[in-house]
Amino acid sequence: MNNFQFQNPTKILFGKGQMANLSKEIPKDAKILMLYGGGSIKKNGIYDQVTKALADYTVVEFGGVPPNPEYSILMGALKVIKDEKIDFILAVGGGSVIDGAKFLSAAALHEGDNHWDLLTGNKPVTEGMPFATVLTLPATGSEMNSGSVITNEETKEKLAMGGPGLFPVFSVLDPEVVSSIPQRQLANGITDAFTHVLEQYMTYPIGALLQDRFAESIMQTLVEVAPAIQKDPSDYKAAASFMWSCTMALNGLIQKGVPTDWAVHAMGHELTALYGIDHARTLAIVAPSHYEYYFENKKDKLAQYAERIWNVTEGTTDEKAKAGIEKTVAFFHSLGIDTKLSDYTKDYSDTGDIVSKRFTDRGWMGLGEHKSLMPADAKKIVEMSY
Ligand code: NZQ
Ligand code: ZN
Repeated sequence: MNNFQFQNPTKILFGKGQMANLSKEIPKDAKILMLYGGGSIKKNGIYDQVTKALADYTVVEFGGVPPNPEYSILMGALKVIKDEKIDFILAVGGGSVIDGAKFLSAAALHEGDNHWDLLTGNKPVTEGMPFATVLTLPATGSEMNSGSVITNEETKEKLAMGGPGLFPVFSVLDPEVVSSIPQRQLANGITDAFTHVLEQYMTYPIGALLQDRFAESIMQTLVEVAPAIQKDPSDYKAAASFMWSCTMALNGLIQKGVPTDWAVHAMGHELTALYGIDHARTLAIVAPSHYEYYFENKKDKLAQYAERIWNVTEGTTDEKAKAGIEKTVAFFHSLGIDTKLSDYTKDYSDTGDIVSKRFTDRGWMGLGEHKSLMPADAKKIVEMSY
């Protein structure tokens, strides 16, 4: 096992009725920016619960943060933060709204006018305006981590930022919110969380027995609850396990002491930036080809995964590992998620070249657990995903 340090300061308020506790967690004299998305919270009752809990506060609202939070729209919210002298941000939404809040938290204390620097500067953010979240969509884990992914429509870029200053102060996780989530987003959430675990697991064995079993237990739980959630999103028991699995998949715990990959995300983000494909679906497109391409590097873990998650007990290591990839594809299909780029766009003939050029331009040399994935490899993997 590798050495590690682990600190996660986010307080979790989990369960039914926890939104009512918002006022116990936010300083009484705070001036709050309530950030939300396209309006789903006004239809499903979450807006009413939050505004009721914040009745004694001064609250300024900013709605309209789109999926894949857009830089220019967030600039509008930053102006509100400055003009209104906001000192606390409450994100009410899924990963996009939460990531938007993280960007604003950093930008509020960031010097200068070009805040896109925060995405390109490669500098960990050590300080931000305090913010918290009310999670409405289990998927990203953003509610308990310090990362954020922001899109720039103008340049068709989607880049990540983060750092120890960008953990939410607290997050409310009420599984009852799952009941209003559309099927498409439920499938996305399961797929995203499942792939988060894969990115921190599908590397090479390092003797981290506990981390492997943490990772496997999250995947097993997602596989077990997926049919129940898709059949009936108001199944509270299934929703609670789904929600906590998504948070645990990317709150930093399972990646401690082990090698991590994250190249699937790096390539996937390009597909969202270029074609607007939902984040989770880009992962389902890239992951199978990535695992085939790096089969030799990853086959021991692929075989372990096939055995422990999919009960593949027969065959050689190579055969089990291959079965692991096939089972993954079958799982995504069972959720209703297509796994080829051509399922989403007809305009893919030069995508491999575009992705590889972008990686080259950014100097992204050596991604993955062995720091060996070069732009030319990304080109081939993306082409295998057509
Ligand atoms: O905008 P509203 O009206 O709220 O509707 C949203 C949106 O249309 C809807 N929704 C959310 N909760 C709902 C609901 N509809 C009905 N009932 C509810 N309770 O769902 C749609 C998608 O929301 P979004 O926030 O975009 O989805 P998700 O949580 O999957 O977030 C995706 C974003 O997170 C980034 C992705 O790249 C993408 O931009 N990620 C962030 C990560 C992080 N910060 O750690 C890690 C991930 O790998 C990922 O990259
Ligand atoms: Zn993801």
